[in-house]
Amino acid sequence: MKKTKTSNAASGAGDVAAQLGLRPGQSLELLKELHILTREGRINQDSRRKLKQVYHLVQFIEKLLDELPPSEGGLRLADHGAGKSYLGFILYDLYFKHRAEGRVYGIETRTELVERSRALAERLGFARMEFLNLSVAEATQSPSLPAHFDVVTALHACDTATDDAIAFGLRRQARAMVLVPCCQAEVARHLNAHKALNLARTPLAELWRHPLHTRELGSQLTNVLRCLYLEACGYQVTVTELVGWEHSLKNELILAKYTGQRKRSAAERLHAILAEFGLQALATTRFALPGVRSDRQ
Ligand SMILES: C[S@@+](CC[C@H](N)C(=O)[O-])C[C@H]1O[C@@H](n2cnc3c(N)ncnc32)[C@H](O)[C@@H]1O
Repeated sequence: MKKTKTSNAASGAGDVAAQLGLRPGQSLELLKELHILTREGRINQDSRRKLKQVYHLVQFIEKLLDELPPSEGGLRLADHGAGKSYLGFILYDLYFKHRAEGRVYGIETRTELVERSRALAERLGFARMEFLNLSVAEATQSPSLPAHFDVVTALHACDTATDDAIAFGLRRQARAMVLVPCCQAEVARHLNAHKALNLARTPLAELWRHPLHTRELGSQLTNVLRCLYLEACGYQVTVTELVGWEHSLKNELILAKYTGQRKRSAAERLHAILAEFGLQALATTRFALPGVRSDRQ
């Protein structure tokens, strides 16, 4: 029998739902707006991978949100370097939308992306989403944001934006941070600056003598230092590979949950590593410890 236009469209939507693993009530309009579905409701093959990736992270964050004790006014999540806010929108659609309270904040420096996200949230009626046209560092200082956040996320936030997101999380007393770092050039720059001196001082400096190694080691060191710093600030840290991120080189997932147990050994190791690699300057900028959490209730 010849299918009518309507039944074609209907079965198309069913296929799409099955293929993408959509959940009941999930907004197809949102997926179209994010270009994961075409206007006709078909899967956009280029974006499909992105959806799968974000889904993995969303499922992970949903479990984390469920574990957190309730917060007054609902859970508050800040997504840093939000870009088009795939993560924030899908989280809102799958988790926050079904709850009476809770709020998602997207922090992003590119004005056009912020405006697009604001317009999209309004169109979809996602009233508890806010988008701030600020850098992460500015957001950390901004009085217009709540003093406390439950969860901080930063998915491929460029360069030092992940470090700024950590500073934001510490300042706003985040109970958990979910970080998938991008490349970071700051540590490599510091390694480069004193290369000759360090080569004379220690054979270890062979690890970063060649520029390619400087970059790779800088990146590895950065994430190691971030983990130690978080542990020294009272977080329990786990590092895993973000499953389903096989097409991206940047697939390290750092999960930090606040326990209040500041690890003294982590602080000591942090300073020892900074000294070993000639990075002491970062001890007072990126990885400053004294009084970091003194105002936490
Ligand atoms: C690689 S994109 C990732 C976007 C999004 N998180 C995702 O995974 O789809 C990084 C985004 O971070 C933004 N960004 C870079 N540095 C930032 C900063 N210091 N503060 C806020 N946003 C920043 C960029 O404009 C860009 O949109």
